[in-house]
Amino acid sequence: MPTQAPSSPVLCSFASPTELCDALAHFIVKAQKEAVEKKGRFTVAISGGSLPKQLNALIGKPGVKWDKWQVFYADERVVPLDHPDSNHRLCMDELFSKVPIPADHIHTIDPSFADDLEELSDAYEKELIREFAQKDSARFPVFDLILLGLGPDGHTASLFPGHPLLTEDDRWVAYIEDSPKPPPKRITLTYPVINHAARIAFVASGAGKADTLQTVLDKPEEGLPASRVRPVHPGQLYWFVDDAAVSKVEYPRTSFKL
Ligand code: 6PG
Repeated sequence: MPTQAPSSPVLCSFASPTELCDALAHFIVKAQKEAVEKKGRFTVAISGGSLPKQLNALIGKPGVKWDKWQVFYADERVVPLDHPDSNHRLCMDELFSKVPIPADHIHTIDPSFADDLEELSDAYEKELIREFAQKDSARFPVFDLILLGLGPDGHTASLFPGHPLLTEDDRWVAYIEDSPKPPPKRITLTYPVINHAARIAFVASGAGKADTLQTVLDKPEEGLPASRVRPVHPGQLYWFVDDAAVSKVEYPRTSFKL
């Protein structure tokens, strides 16, 4: 059977960051509901940057079943878990310390391997295998949702422009020791993992994103890392942006409905 081409990204724009965050929270709760009804759990990968704060409309929101969430990091900086640069710490501060999610449902890197990134990324891959392998028994894990940000250079997770990791097609988790954005040591989910997710949502807000977003959506042939996120069928890619971020983009908008 021929492989079906990825479907086109769905671009939803909102007048303000608050409206964006409210819609994102609705979208996440719907994704969670479907996943829990089907499999009794909700697997999510989360990025750093502004994203954890953009999830704050989930705090206290009815319908969020925190005990069903299994959280991984789309990328993580290799620093102690309580370090100010840690994405885990950021997510704890902004979200997870404020909601009843069981601590063992948040899957962190093991910083005791900080001197050996091969080992550290292997250990994180094993953590993913424990969660996914028997249950979904696929070549790559199928996250219910992956939440990504957009860097000013078009990077996403820790997949940076021109880096050899852009062509990694085997590993689930890769490491980088020379990130152009500090801190230099990081791990990241790879494209095969990201692109096998059931849903991927990018979140980008503010005029500072306008040029990069225009390139990512209107000139995907330039191959910026964010443009290379194209989930395999039947996965679907969504962009949650505000009007300031999308001001230069020609790509058609879709009105947000649940
Ligand atoms: C990092 C950052 C980075 C960030 C993007 C988007 O690991 O260095 O987390 O990847 O997610 O630059 O940032 P904003 O969401 O803050 O715009």
